[in-house]
Amino acid sequence: MVQKIKSIPGMQDITSQQMAFWHKMETTAREVFGAYGFSEIRTPLLEDTQLFARGIGEETQVVSKEMYTFEDRGGDSVTLRPEGTAGVVRAFVQHSFHAKDAISKLYYMGPMFRYERPQKGRLRQFHQIGAELMGVDTPLADAEVVILLDRWVQKLGVGDYRLEVNSLGTPEERESYLEKLVSYFKEHATELGADDQERLTKNPLRILDSKDPKAIALREKAPRLLESLGDESKAEFDSFLSTLKEAGVNYHINPFIVRGLDYYQKTTFEFISDALGSQSAFAGGGRYNQLVEELGGPLTPCVGFAAGCERLVMLMEEHSQQTESFKPGAYFIPMTEAAFEKCRSLMQIVRDAGVCGEMDYYLKSMKSQMRRANKLKYQFAVILGDDELAAEQVMVKNLEDGQQKAVAWSDLVAAVQS
Ligand code: HAM
Repeated sequence: MVQKIKSIPGMQDITSQQMAFWHKMETTAREVFGAYGFSEIRTPLLEDTQLFARGIGEETQVVSKEMYTFEDRGGDSVTLRPEGTAGVVRAFVQHSFHAKDAISKLYYMGPMFRYERPQKGRLRQFHQIGAELMGVDTPLADAEVVILLDRWVQKLGVGDYRLEVNSLGTPEERESYLEKLVSYFKEHATELGADDQERLTKNPLRILDSKDPKAIALREKAPRLLESLGDESKAEFDSFLSTLKEAGVNYHINPFIVRGLDYYQKTTFEFISDALGSQSAFAGGGRYNQLVEELGGPLTPCVGFAAGCERLVMLMEEHSQQTESFKPGAYFIPMTEAAFEKCRSLMQIVRDAGVCGEMDYYLKSMKSQMRRANKLKYQFAVILGDDELAAEQVMVKNLEDGQQKAVAWSDLVAAVQS
């Protein structure tokens, strides 16, 4: 017996049954993002490994444990992109976008790859739709991308969700905060799990969003970054929040949102839905003011986000009111060899007019053809036998209400258009 080959764990097919949701998500993104002046960019799936190591941070979970990295045939180390921001920034620097306009507003959609343990809502190949607003450092820009994201998600119909926001302060503020945080957790090091003890030396901020109950209990009494922000950062965060409020976007301040990628500073945020289970964030982002410089470009403050498409589609499916409806167009049913040929030419006319037309590739019984027309949920069946052939007509049956009428060949397009 020939062994069947399955898709790789954590990499899934998106079948035509789900496609309506994907199309709605993508089309709505293009409309909404376009209305805010964003245009699309497509970057390669494969990039120089150094881009992610430098851009995202060597010590992050994504870079140290989850990247698909390999040597290509020329001996270069390449990586399947684990996220979209680093590639967009690389393109920005490579093509000097800043020289064309002081502000770049870019969005992207496509697959990302992370070698994570697959579970519901967590895949190894997943898709993101993201946007990056590059060239300004004002809370108005932070609010704009959050408002855009919120408005887009609302149009998708995903049920209840909440926006959680935080500020990580400037790198200097974070540096002095980290000293306090590390000394707090060091005092309690024995109470931390093994993973969080390792984070204490490598990436202490991440202990704050650890899922381990021991860390969750400890963090309650840990010093808060939001409370140690300087006046300027505080004022910026307040202005960000009040701009959200003005736009009618509700938020919750969550001091434990630190994000998994190293490039963030100041504003960070996540969109959460409890309906998703443990992988509850369906979008996340924040401000990153140094990445462009770190990748060799001029100082360019940026803010952006990415949404996880599979998680959004899960929510859309759950909240969909859609009942399967009839599909516009006609299924052609010839009864004889001569009718088969005529059906093919009538179907071509219908298709050329932009209306969907389909028929079988072989002459089959009327019953089996009718069964397929019903299964595919076509609005109309177009039936052609010898009598109709002689009269230059077809029988058009509306499969929704069962009504049927004779239609001249010359009127067929109009009859199946309605
Ligand atoms: P991120 O939080 O790592 O941020 O990913 C954004 C979203 O992608 C998550 O909220 C989640 O919905 C989805 N996601 C991440 N990993 C997986 C996975 N393994 N399976 C399914 N979905 C997943 C970023 O990637 C940043 N580049 C966002 C950003 C853009 N920040 C600034 N600009």
